[in-house]
Amino acid sequence: MNNFSFHNPTQVLFGKDTIPQIGEELAKRGHKKVLLLAGGGSIQQNGVYEHTVRSLEAAGIARAECWGVQANPVLSKVREAIALCHSEGVDAVLAVGGGSVLDSAKAVACGFYMNDVWAAFEKTEAITRALPLFTILTLSATGSEMNMFAVLTKPEEHKKWAIGHPALYPVVSIVDPSVQTSLPWRQTVCGGVDSLSHIMEFYFIGKPGDTTVAVNTAVSRTIIQSVDALQRSPEDYEARANLAWGSTLALNGISGCGLNFGEWSTHMLEHAVSAHHPQVAHAEGLAVLFPAWIEYCQASNPDTFRAWAERVWDSPTVEAGVAAFRNRLRQWEGPVRLADLGVDAAEIPAIADTAMLTQPLGSLRPLSRQDVVNILEIAAAA
Ligand code: NZQ
Ligand code: ZN
Repeated sequence: MNNFSFHNPTQVLFGKDTIPQIGEELAKRGHKKVLLLAGGGSIQQNGVYEHTVRSLEAAGIARAECWGVQANPVLSKVREAIALCHSEGVDAVLAVGGGSVLDSAKAVACGFYMNDVWAAFEKTEAITRALPLFTILTLSATGSEMNMFAVLTKPEEHKKWAIGHPALYPVVSIVDPSVQTSLPWRQTVCGGVDSLSHIMEFYFIGKPGDTTVAVNTAVSRTIIQSVDALQRSPEDYEARANLAWGSTLALNGISGCGLNFGEWSTHMLEHAVSAHHPQVAHAEGLAVLFPAWIEYCQASNPDTFRAWAERVWDSPTVEAGVAAFRNRLRQWEGPVRLADLGVDAAEIPAIADTAMLTQPLGSLRPLSRQDVVNILEIAAAA
């Protein structure tokens, strides 16, 4: 096992009826006024907004609100929210929503102290501090509720880029799985696939005997079983809860202990795809690309790829494991090839050019532009 450092400062309040604790959590840390950041309105339909506001008011926490964060969130909304933070004099940010809202809130929190927040994504200005961030998660997928990363898109330049800084760990994240019952089936599947993908970004770096590989195997199987259970019964609280915590564990540091910093080239390829096609949900891009990447890169660490096929998919070979993975995606009504995403094979060269803007690309197997083209062609032909 490789050396590692593990530290995660986020307090997670997990379970049914935890949202009403948010006001008190803010008040006991001395906060007086928050920016409440939200998406397109799902939190008004499922009661999350009402519970949040009632709790803030009971604890005497004032608020300014900023709505309209979109899936694959964009820089312009973050800039708008930063300006509001200054004009309203807030002392903390409260994100209420899915990963796009949480990521935007992280960019707002650090951008508050910067001349230009996009400079953090371009790596031309360092993040030094951030407003304290609190989150109420409504879609378990990204792990953003318990990690220090954020992903943002600058659409006019086809750039979907990430930042990471310890100041971006949420102080407190509330995860009430019961509020995820209102998710459309498609988003439930996205949550499962994104979580599985985060685990896979680490898994293939390891050795079959690693403790972290064993943990990742168990969490992967639980995620798959939970999505299966939710397909049968969307109201199944235990399945929602197991998927939610599995999703948090997939990208809160636990899944990467001893596995260096992971692989991440499939995520970079997906970010290139959705930078060109903002309608592509992050996880749907991953569903199409991950099996192709595995097929292409399996020779780089064959024992571990085979262990993944055997242990996660009960399959004797990597090929059979990939086939089982794609079959499950079909069973879940998810996409399996580029055309399912509305991406034409003729766009592969342009997407590959965008992917190559991230360097280095790949650690287990560094990818050249031709490798990227080859993987995208496998994904087109699947
Ligand atoms: O906008 P609203 O109305 O809230 O609707 C959202 C949105 O349309 C809806 N939704 C969320 N919770 C709901 C709900 N609908 C009904 N009931 C609920 N309880 O779901 C839709 C998708 O939400 P979004 O936040 O975009 O999804 P997700 O959580 O999958 O976030 C995806 C973003 O996170 C980035 C992705 O690239 C993408 O931009 N990622 C962030 C990471 C991180 N911070 O560590 C890592 C990931 O790999 C990923 O890159
Ligand atoms: Zn992801």
